[in-house]
Amino acid sequence: MKINDNYSRLEKSYLFSEIARRTAGKDVLRLGIGDVTLPLAPVVISAMQHAATEFRGYGEEQGYKFLRDAVVDYYAPKGVGLENSEVFISDGAKSDLGNILDIFSCDATVLIPNPVYPVYVDTNIMAGRKIVYAKWGAPDPEVRADIIYICSPNNPTGEVYNKDELSAWVEYAIANNAVILFDAAYEAFVRDPELPTSIYQIPNAKKCAIEFCSLSKTAGFTGVRCGWTIVPHETGLNELWLRRQTTKFNGVSYIVQRGAQAALSPQGVVQNRANIDHYMGNAKIIMDALDELGIEYKGGKNAPYIWLKCPDNMTSWQYFDHLLNKHQIVGTPGAGFGSAGEGHFRLSAFAKREDIVMAMGRLREYSILR
Ligand code: MLT
Repeated sequence: MKINDNYSRLEKSYLFSEIARRTAGKDVLRLGIGDVTLPLAPVVISAMQHAATEFRGYGEEQGYKFLRDAVVDYYAPKGVGLENSEVFISDGAKSDLGNILDIFSCDATVLIPNPVYPVYVDTNIMAGRKIVYAKWGAPDPEVRADIIYICSPNNPTGEVYNKDELSAWVEYAIANNAVILFDAAYEAFVRDPELPTSIYQIPNAKKCAIEFCSLSKTAGFTGVRCGWTIVPHETGLNELWLRRQTTKFNGVSYIVQRGAQAALSPQGVVQNRANIDHYMGNAKIIMDALDELGIEYKGGKNAPYIWLKCPDNMTSWQYFDHLLNKHQIVGTPGAGFGSAGEGHFRLSAFAKREDIVMAMGRLREYSILR
């Protein structure tokens, strides 16, 4: 058989699988993968329990209308008007961030921030696309690209673009006749009301941007699986994506979509807000400890990740081994998010509160992160 040779250009394993492998069976404090630790909101549980008693056959590939309408309503207070035909219900942002590439040519040049969520790089390597890397900040007018990834709030650094900065990217995309793939998975963690939580809050973004969002972190759906992808008609890509989805996807289960609808209801938003506040409380505990220890970091204020500089010029994997072996703490090495992440390390605020308190206690006890 002839296999896809591009796979030979990938790292041997996916970042979070590698970390899971290295820490399997160990009694450790897990501040690595951004996996939620609080249960689903009560309103979501009862909606799913009820839905389980209702019989359904195949649903609409694009998602049930009741949930697409709920997504439209979720965007309205952001000042974003959507049509429900622009909303596609997914099984989470990760899948669609990869799947969307089906509708773009493999000859396209892709611009990817560095450091960033590794799915963007890996899925484009699989397709053999040319990748150019960009630092966080303003677009470089000298660099040409057809597909532009933006993750804001950024995973892993926790940085968030303001409206002017995002406007510059929208203008750049339009000038390049490019599409922006905007990953908004962490939008619910933005605290500063001046910061945008959707790219469609930026003028003209509906002409050039596809937005991916997820209930994984917002509503504790990492194991339940539901999110959405917005493909505005103005991009000219909506029908293509619909064609792709109706062929390759049979939709998210009815039970899960009823749970997602409940998560987006006014009561669901209030209940989920309490969980988000709890995680941001975890972020504060981490930041307080780092402040006390004089460790440089970013993030944590409008995002659930804290991005710190490894002490003693350690590489990020050296620091990973050090924290794991000496303090039984698991984090995520910055190099796993791209070359620009080398020398940095990510801590996740999604960990259990008691684990975070204990981990920060251990670091304080040794007075520095050593
Ligand atoms: C992360 O830790 O970066 C995320 O949990 C990964 C993901 O959402 O797939």
